[in-house]
Amino acid sequence: MLFSHIAILTGAGISAESGIPVFRSEDGLWEQHKVEDVATYEGFMRDKTLVHNFYNKMRRELKERKPNAGHIAITHLQEEMAKRGGSVTIITQNIDNLHEQAQSHDVIHMHGELNSVLCEHCGKRFPYFEDTSVESVCPHCKQKALRPDIVWFGEIPYHLDEIEQALFKCDLFIAVGTSGVVYPAAGFVGLCRKMHKPCLEFNLEPSAVNSSFTRGYYGKAGTTLPQFVEYLLQKDSLPDKL
Ligand code: APR
Repeated sequence: MLFSHIAILTGAGISAESGIPVFRSEDGLWEQHKVEDVATYEGFMRDKTLVHNFYNKMRRELKERKPNAGHIAITHLQEEMAKRGGSVTIITQNIDNLHEQAQSHDVIHMHGELNSVLCEHCGKRFPYFEDTSVESVCPHCKQKALRPDIVWFGEIPYHLDEIEQALFKCDLFIAVGTSGVVYPAAGFVGLCRKMHKPCLEFNLEPSAVNSSFTRGYYGKAGTTLPQFVEYLLQKDSLPDKL
């Protein structure tokens, strides 16, 4: 195979076709809510109930969402690469569980997960599928100190060591459905290019860091990703366009 280890960074765009709104678009989430109110620690300290309810709504809605052809194509690539002795690591900025629902593995959630909570008192993170509130009790330390397990603006993303290892190890880097404005994720392409690795972008339109990519495939990821995966697996080369 031309490539042995592939690292795929995913953003909100890969889940858009599953009915989960992206953050930055005309009707995106950040047009409807103030980032500083619902995605910063300061916002949480100002109004915990508002923040709990914001993520409660998203968590409830996630129960209705299913993976789309883009998620499934990544799972297929992962299975086929494994048969050939290779690997695919998924680094996601998404807090949904659609990669897992699509039966993908090696999924690194760098911005946390909707189906997880963090206890501010004992520091434990654990799966949680119900609504949370200021009254929710941590099963470990019995304190009322639960917060959504989401990496907010100004906080340090999770698993950065693991991510760095995946980026060093990969011989192909792919970014799907991310606008390229939120760091450190937006900087991964620059790091991979410095290591002379081919870098591909799948997006509706060129992202903010588009000039760093070797090649871009533009259109809905639910259409372009399955076409790309078939091409790569059959021809063992990169398509010029899709
Ligand atoms: N297929 C491919 N790309 C798409 C699709 C689609 N069907 N629909 C939308 N996109 C693209 C958009 O054009 C945009 O470039 O996905 C991108 C989504 O960008 P953002 O909304 O900015 O999402 P993301 O890049 O994941 O945001 C990064 O910002 O608010 C924080 O923590 C939040 O993880 C998030 C981070």
